[in-house]
Amino acid sequence: MWGIDASPRAVRKAEEKASARGLRVNFRVMNALSLDTLGRTFDTATDSGLFHTLSDADRPVFVKNLAAALVPGGKYFMLCFSDLEPAGYGPRRISKRDIGESFGDGWTIDFIRPATFESHTRVQGTKAWISGISRW
Ligand SMILES: C[S@@+](CC[C@H](N)C(=O)[O-])C[C@H]1O[C@@H](n2cnc3c(N)ncnc32)[C@H](O)[C@@H]1O
Repeated sequence: MWGIDASPRAVRKAEEKASARGLRVNFRVMNALSLDTLGRTFDTATDSGLFHTLSDADRPVFVKNLAAALVPGGKYFMLCFSDLEPAGYGPRRISKRDIGESFGDGWTIDFIRPATFESHTRVQGTKAWISGISRW
């Protein structure tokens, strides 16, 4: 298993959690826009809270390089902030349409379902979409 984040602090915390749980994970501090530079492919990629941080310009770059890091038929599971969550705080909201527009040619959207982000600051959590998307 591999895990990446651009923030060294986030990676350190993830390393501590993995260690406490007895999980062996190959962590890297790296830019998710450069997944093609890993030089290897995976059957599955999971994204918790990254996609909704990307700018409009960065989305197609991320999607292209994500494809390079997945085997044909590989699966991408993504949890992002939903446009059903009221505006006014936190990251930008993502609609089902945004997801469809980002993952067009070369991808099949298997499902997009309502979900909830657990939150330290909101007991009820925040509204999210969980998606399963396959690379051709
Ligand atoms: C909303 S937080 C989600 C953190 C964690 N994955 C979770 O689910 O609680 C977004 C994370 O994306 C990371 N991030 C943002 N842009 C990135 C990029 N271009 N490459 C890698 N990580 C990035 C941030 O450092 C941050 O840790």
